[in-house]
Amino acid sequence: MFFIGAVVSNRIGINYGQLGNNLPSPARSIELLKNMNIGRVKLYDADHEILNLLSGTDIDVAITVANDEISGIAASQHLADQWVYEHVIAHYPSTRIRFVLVGNKVFSSISTPEDMQIARVLVRAMRRIKNTIKALGIRNIKIGTPLAMDIMETTTFPPSNGTFKQELQQLMVPLLKYINGTKSFFFINVYPYIEWFESQVWNQTAINLGSALFRSDDESYTDPQSGLEYTNLLDQMLDSVVYAMAKLGYNDVMLAISETGWPHEGESGANRYNAAEYIHNLVRKMTAVPSIGTPARPGVVIPTFIFSMYDENQKFGASTERQWGLFNPDGSPVYEVNITSIV
Ligand SMILES: *[C@@H]1O[C@H](CO)[C@@H](O)[C@H](O)[C@H]1NC(C)=O
Ligand SMILES: *[C@@H]1O[C@H](CO)[C@@H](O)[C@H](O)[C@H]1NC(C)=O
Ligand SMILES: *[C@@H]1O[C@H](CO)[C@@H](O)[C@H](O)[C@H]1NC(C)=O
Ligand SMILES: *[C@@H]1O[C@H](CO)[C@@H](O)[C@H](O)[C@H]1NC(C)=O
Repeated sequence: MFFIGAVVSNRIGINYGQLGNNLPSPARSIELLKNMNIGRVKLYDADHEILNLLSGTDIDVAITVANDEISGIAASQHLADQWVYEHVIAHYPSTRIRFVLVGNKVFSSISTPEDMQIARVLVRAMRRIKNTIKALGIRNIKIGTPLAMDIMETTTFPPSNGTFKQELQQLMVPLLKYINGTKSFFFINVYPYIEWFESQVWNQTAINLGSALFRSDDESYTDPQSGLEYTNLLDQMLDSVVYAMAKLGYNDVMLAISETGWPHEGESGANRYNAAEYIHNLVRKMTAVPSIGTPARPGVVIPTFIFSMYDENQKFGASTERQWGLFNPDGSPVYEVNITSIV
């Protein structure tokens, strides 16, 4: 893995979303990140104020090109250049921008012709952003695009059965080719909570809560095809993606977790005790030295971003959608998780 040494550290990351009307100021938020000893932060945009505040810190930063900017950038190198100058060059290198993420969950909504068009030109937009960055001689910024687990066929068990949805395969192949060719990461949002919750509701696989929360005393599960033994749901979900990629011929594409977390309030299983246990065990696993990896990829570092810094009261969807934050609007922790003491 020498080739990505400059990019990959195992320090934990966090998503800093701003879809709330009651959130602490950016300055206060960056203070909180520093106090927490956070290694990386992911933004859903490329906000100038936040990027300025991150200048001079040792926090690695992922910034995002909005979905509605993708088609324009795909069609015009000039627009790509402009985006990079405005959002990257204005802050780099004093702000440690390490990832430019093009879009968010672009393959999750392809039901309208407009959305399908964005999905089709996604890789072209990624390539144009990369062209600009490369032409400037910058070598430590990777290009990626976060996807959600709805890219998988519903049956992701056992992990070795992992397959991408049939209708996405045509989109997935060029994306994997691009990510493999640029030695970037396959960014995926992975929520054991949702998998567990849906197994309760739909009663298909009856996943143990302990497995979703990394409880080590829980029973393990052996994949009958691969023979690999699993002790937690996150590994099963990640490896199902590994196997899905392998089925398309990509055995070595690295994974990054663009979002994972646990709601502290809301539906069944959503409470601050489970949330604290999940985050604590997640951080311990993902920051271990030497790296743990997954059963299919032992020892491999998987850059991971917790979702999320705050509850965001202006997010759409079920109330559980809005209760994933580590911090209250006044900046106090929702539950006690001391990342410094875990690492
Ligand atoms: C794995 O997938 C195959 C083909 O889709 C299916 O026939 C088989 O039942 C699956 N295995 C399990 C254990 O779900
Ligand atoms: C992935 O990239 C490696 C080189 O980094 C190359 O050897 C391999 O052929 C690529 N895989 C595919 C399926 O293109
Ligand atoms: C499935 O759900 C039913 C009730 O809805 C419950 O009695 C049963 O124990 C569940 N099965 C598993 C394997 O969880
Ligand atoms: C977190 O843990 C570290 C190391 O154990 C300790 O120095 C620090 O005071 C703790 N922070 C809080 C807020 O408890």
